[in-house]
Order: sequence, then structure tokens, then C-alpha cells
Amino acid sequence: MEQEVLLEVKNLKKYFPMKNFFGAKIGDLKAVDDVSFVIYKGETFGLVGESGCGKSTLGRTILQMLEADSGSVIFKDKDIANLPKDKWKELRSKLQIIFQDPYSALNPNWTVKELIQEPLKNAGMSRKQCDERVRELLKMVNMNEEDMHKFSYEFSGGQRQRIGIARAVASYPEFIFCDEPISALDVSVQAQVVNMLKDLQQELGLTYLFTAHDLSMVHHISDRIGVMYLGSMVELGTSEEVFENPLHPYTKALISAIPIADPELGRKSQRIPIQGELPSPMNAPKGCRFCTRCPYATDKCREERPEFREIRPGHFARCHML
Ligand SMILES: Nc1ncnc2c1ncn2[C@@H]1O[C@H](COP(=O)(O)OP(=O)(O)OP(=O)(O)O)[C@@H](O)[C@H]1O
Ligand SMILES: [Mg+2]
Repeated sequence: MEQEVLLEVKNLKKYFPMKNFFGAKIGDLKAVDDVSFVIYKGETFGLVGESGCGKSTLGRTILQMLEADSGSVIFKDKDIANLPKDKWKELRSKLQIIFQDPYSALNPNWTVKELIQEPLKNAGMSRKQCDERVRELLKMVNMNEEDMHKFSYEFSGGQRQRIGIARAVASYPEFIFCDEPISALDVSVQAQVVNMLKDLQQELGLTYLFTAHDLSMVHHISDRIGVMYLGSMVELGTSEEVFENPLHPYTKALISAIPIADPELGRKSQRIPIQGELPSPMNAPKGCRFCTRCPYATDKCREERPEFREIRPGHFARCHML
């Protein structure tokens, strides 16, 4: 079955200029370094990788919350990374974000209604339409109509995240970047929030880019998975393929580190320790970004950055050894 592409990321780069104490530029922190992939309509694309590898920066650059240094993001036949401001305004409501921390993401001085209706007002809805939509949205996330006059601090973490979800889906988006939407929540409500996201995806035909630290959870929720290392996408494939037949040494090590409590994943793999320290993204190795920690690295790996190649149908990796 031919799948419809919703979003195409091409050679995307986001560098943060680093300055010394005196304000002089000392280099670039390559948070997203030439990343290309597509996201299909209706899928959940999971992004994994160690803290600082660039997951949030990639998502935020796709959403135009950060300006790309180069590359493009094609959404609905338009390159939204290089669009005049007025044209982008028409599209921005279609791409939304759900933040990790529902405590700091919601302005405590606003009522639930004000929080949820903000994107609607921006989209030019009347007061009456907003009111109706807020009621509908609260119902969608299993909250009461009366809650709309309360302030976000009156709610628990799980409820606040549901307010965040209502706000994200308010303006009829097509794409949502869920940036660790459950990691700040109590374990007891994590499944509830994940299930709600899944149900809404079905109901509203949403496409997700999803990040989380819990690999078994990403495996469970994602159709396809991308593995990032130091700003680079090193592997991409269906969730099954990546977990059952990981290709890149980094992915193998990541998966082997999952506690055996998940028998489905623990079964085949022997624990492969990742050697050494994660290099600073300020001085990422020149060739393959993983070469300083890879047990198989050769001189070629240290000199030449491997291409991101399709090794098996739909399964890509960036490694000279494959
Ligand atoms: N605004 C910024 N200015 C400078 N550097 C930044 C900025 N935002 C992120 N970085 C750096 O970019 C790199 C990627 O960060 P990012 O937050 O995207 O990683 P991440 O994969 O989302 O990590 P985590 O799993 O901890 O959320 C890190 O080295 C980080 O320190
Ligand atoms: Mg992050």
C-alpha cells in the first residue's frame, strides 16, 4: 500500500552559535546536522536517542519554533522552513506541540478556558464559537465543562497534560509534536495519557512525532522509529524492524540496554555496553559521529561520514559496515 507523505524533512540543519565569556563566537553546536526523512499521514513516528542528541531541537525546527540554518520542511506541498511570514500564518495552526512538563507549559494566571481558546482566537474564531469549541474539547479529554473557569494550578499533572492536549488539538491540527508528553507524569497516569493520545489520533486523523526516554513505550506506540545520535539520524525503520533487527551499532547498544522486564525485547539481545563518554556536540567527531564509541570503528569511519542509506526496504542506517 502506497502511504501518503504528510511531511518531508530534507537536509535540515540547526546549529546554535556558541560564544565565549567575551561574546566571541567559538564554534557551532550542531544540534540537528543534516537530517532527512518523511513522516506518513496518520502514523506515529517515534524519535529516540540519548539526552542532548537533538530530538527536541529537530521537532521544534520542524514546527518553525526555531529557525533552520538550512534545509527544508515540506508540508502540504509548501516548504514551511522557507515561507514568507503571511503564508506561514495560514498553516501554523496545523502543526502543534505537546510539551513535556505540564507544570511549566501552562500559564498559571490563565483559566483553562483562556488556555485552550488562545489558539482559536489566533485563528479568528468568535467568542461564541470559542466557547462551544472549548466545551467540546474538554469533553474530548474527559474533563468537566465547569473546569473551564478554574486555573491550571488547581489540577494534577495528568489533568494538566490533558489541558495541554486539548489546547494542542483545539485548532484542528494535522500534525502534533509530542515531546516527551508523559515523562513528567506519575507512572499511574502515564498509560492513561498515552491511550488518550492514541484515541484522539484515530478520531481526528492526527499524525504524531513522538519522543520519550522509555524505549519499550516508544516501541509500543510508534509505527516507525528514528534513532538519533549527536544531531544525526543514524537509523530509521518500522518499529518492529528497528527493535527486532537493529542495524546500527548504536541502536543495538541502546536496545540491549532495555531492562529484560520487557521479554519481547530482551529475548535475543545480549547487553552491549556503549564505550566511553558522549562527545560534546560542540566537537562531534568528523567522520561517523559514533566512531569514538563504536567497537567496530575503522579509519574510514573516523574520516568519512557515512551516507544515510536504505539497507533493507524501508530500513535506513548511516554506517560504513552495512
Ligand atoms: N537554545 C539553545 N541554545 C544552545 N544550545 C541548545 C539550545 N537548545 C538545545 N541546545 C543544545 O542542543 C543539543 C540538543 O538538545 P535537545 O534539547 O534538542 O536534545 P534532546 O534530544 O531533546 O534531549 P532530551 O532527551 O534531554 O530532551 C544539546 O546539546 C543542547 O544543549
Ligand atoms: Mg528533548
